[in-house]
Amino acid sequence: MVRRLNRPLCGGWLGLCALTLLLPAHATGAEEQERGKRLFTTVQPACATCHTLQAAGAEGQVGPVLDEIKPDAARVLRAVRAGLGVMPSYAERLSERDMRALAQFVAHATGGASLPVER
Ligand code: HEC
Repeated sequence: MVRRLNRPLCGGWLGLCALTLLLPAHATGAEEQERGKRLFTTVQPACATCHTLQAAGAEGQVGPVLDEIKPDAARVLRAVRAGLGVMPSYAERLSERDMRALAQFVAHATGGASLPVER
């Protein structure tokens, strides 16, 4: 009886079941990366004006080369939100979601650690 109740849930295909649970999260992550990449060159003033980041085709020379400092997402988010030295804060012009997308993109592109997935 217990067996029969269990079957429709996963049909014994535990792998397939896990896959369907993981796929949407993965797709969202890719979408977030894309948005972050777009923002990197389109937000005003553009990150690309000041930073070099290969994945975005950016060759700015004012700030540190992101490919070299490989910041984790938390570090990017902190800089974007609060600003740092000549770098302006973006808290007034970007939503929290957009700042996260930027942070995830930069971290992913350079190999830094990402932020925990938001549920
Ligand atoms: C006007 C030029 C300028 C723009 C535009 C700019 N930055 Fe920066 N950024 C800098 C400079 C300069 C620093 C180094 C500041 C310092 O260490 O005093 C910096 C530092 C950083 C750091 C390192 C932070 C740390 O903890 O050391 C990251 C990550 C970063 N910027 C990401 C971005 C992103 C993402 C954007 C776009 C949303 C952006 N920057 C836009 C100039 C800029």
